Amino acid sequence: MTEHTLAEQLPSDALPKHIAVIMDGNGRWAQARGKARVFGHKAGVDAVRKTVSEASRLGIEVLSLFAFSSENWRRPEDEVSVLMELFITVLGREVKRLHKNNIQLRVVGDVSRFSKRLQNKIEEAQNLTANNRGMVLNICANYGGQWDIVQAAQAVARKVQTGELTPDDIQETDIAQHLTMADLPNVDLMIRTSGECRISNFMLWQAAYAELYFTDLFWPDFDERALQDALYWFVHRERRFGCTGEQVQATHV
Ligand code: IPE
Ligand code: IPE
Ligand code: MG
Repeated sequence: MTEHTLAEQLPSDALPKHIAVIMDGNGRWAQARGKARVFGHKAGVDAVRKTVSEASRLGIEVLSLFAFSSENWRRPEDEVSVLMELFITVLGREVKRLHKNNIQLRVVGDVSRFSKRLQNKIEEAQNLTANNRGMVLNICANYGGQWDIVQAAQAVARKVQTGELTPDDIQETDIAQHLTMADLPNVDLMIRTSGECRISNFMLWQAAYAELYFTDLFWPDFDERALQDALYWFVHRERRFGCTGEQVQATHV
């Protein structure tokens, strides 16, 4: 069977609305080939392209890719600067294709720590695609789930300070509405490559009820077929959201 025939059997109403991906294993992929780690980051760009186009083709509403965590600044300076250069080049090179495919690009995270040049590229890319109504592509850069919750807590604290809200009135929705991506559905499926089984501070709030899918593939080896495999796995999960299996099954009949 070709990949496309397989994909067509995926029931579109059962597909996740929001897929989040922790793109891990670039360094090990390169090292296994006797190359420098940065070679793996460059190879990872092809996997990004394949994943974006397949998710968009399948009608996924939101795809969030973890590109650089708030903790990744701890890496050697050389590696960080190659990653920054790569963002600039890739943004410039790929944004037209995204735009042509009606994809809305958002860079999510604390971008204030990036160079002015990178911040300008980000703004240009976001402006160009802002009115697109196809898939939303979140590139999470200098992002951390804890940072996201802290910045929402700060916004809520400001409302308390102005008397708009009292501490006892604070509800989950008050926090949720100030998180990044507040206008988007929560994460249904979180994928992590490279065999590591951890969340590494990605989308802590938004992934509260996500199905977690781990694959041993290193990120540069991830492709259309690998995404389809994750989706086949996902459509067979029973999502209970606190209910019993019997309750969930009763809603299906
Ligand atoms: C993921 O690959 C990319 C980023 C974190 C930027 P890694 O660079 O973490 O690759 P490994 O985990 O060291 O193999
Ligand atoms: C998570 O990968 C961050 C990104 C994929 C951008 P890491 O490779 O940085 O995660 P840890 O440090 O191994 O948990
Ligand atoms: Mg890693």
